[in-house]
Amino acid sequence: MKVCVIGVGRMGRRHIAAARGAGFELAGIFDLSPEAIATTLAECDVPKSSAFSDAKQMLQAMCPDAAVISTTAPSHCEFVCAAAEAGVRFILCEKPMASSLHECDRMIAACSAAGARLAVNHQMRFMEQYTEIKALAATSEFGGLRSMVVTSGNFGLAMNGSHYFEAFRYLTDEFMKEISCWFDPNNVPNPRGAEYIDRSGQLRGASASGARLIMELGADLGHGIQVVYGCRNGQIIVDELAGLVRGIHRLPEYRDLPTTRYGMPATESNRRIAQADAIKPTEDLWRAMLADRSYPDGVSGRHAVAVLVAANLSGEDGGRRVLLDDGLPLQRKFKWA
Ligand SMILES: NC(=O)c1ccc[n+]([C@@H]2O[C@H](COP(=O)([O-])OP(=O)(O)OC[C@H]3O[C@@H](n4cnc5c(N)ncnc54)[C@H](O)[C@@H]3O)[C@@H](O)[C@H]2O)c1
Repeated sequence: MKVCVIGVGRMGRRHIAAARGAGFELAGIFDLSPEAIATTLAECDVPKSSAFSDAKQMLQAMCPDAAVISTTAPSHCEFVCAAAEAGVRFILCEKPMASSLHECDRMIAACSAAGARLAVNHQMRFMEQYTEIKALAATSEFGGLRSMVVTSGNFGLAMNGSHYFEAFRYLTDEFMKEISCWFDPNNVPNPRGAEYIDRSGQLRGASASGARLIMELGADLGHGIQVVYGCRNGQIIVDELAGLVRGIHRLPEYRDLPTTRYGMPATESNRRIAQADAIKPTEDLWRAMLADRSYPDGVSGRHAVAVLVAANLSGEDGGRRVLLDDGLPLQRKFKWA
């Protein structure tokens, strides 16, 4: 199986490692930046002959089975559509899936018309810090997930926030129904260029069943990612950077008492889980896509973009509640990366 990688910045180079780990042979790389190409040739043991100066020419010349689109968001649509039209069967696009909902729709339509599988690199369902929590929250001890509270350093709604939108969707098996968001006054400086704009602040989202996602991403917060999962009978507290999980739930004899009796005798456990890793979960995503098992497809990627669009509309309007099924603007392009 041959793979081509379009966009070989920091993430593109990790994609080369992940694709090789999943058993692909690297057939070609393309990037507009000569520096990115030079760094990739030097760091990733890629022969100069594999570097192309035109993406479409590379796809035609190499006929890859798979393509990674790891440029920044404004060109994701163009390259996903080009790969699908060139007959690439497996396409993995970076998040955020696109700059607008219309672009997401074009990408899904182009892949569907060409019979290509499209995945978006939201790796959450391949990371222990979410798979373990999903299993734990569903046990009778914990009694089902009702809320996910993320408090973290200033990481931007698009940059990392979009991963948590997908995590919430994966963990609850529900789509987000409504969003309210309050922007911090300053934009998050973006290492990918001053042309990109991302926002931090506070966000509240809810699903149709009333499960909540609460995020505190203040621009004045400089360290850590803690997530508290609230369940009917207990809480699961995850320190994502340290890889620590603390579970606490009511003893069985107190389980059925009303939730107002929140201080009932409980049992506690502490354990370690795998820390976040930028390569291994992407390898697992490839394996899942190739085998047509559960993977974050275009619908998942589009949903994360829809939540981002709603969050931006709400934040621009002082925290107004925005419904996701209420005619979000399809054409408006946002300047996230
Ligand atoms: N899934 C994850 O965990 C994760 C982590 C980091 C970044 N990302 C995403 O990956 C993407 C790339 O991020 P990065 O950190 O590698 O950024 P980067 O700036 O290091 O790399 C982006 C590369 O794309 C190239 N590029 C941009 N537009 C292009 C175009 N039209 N044609 C050809 N090349 C083009 C740039 O020259 C650059 O080399 C972003 O969408 C980002 O949000 C995802």
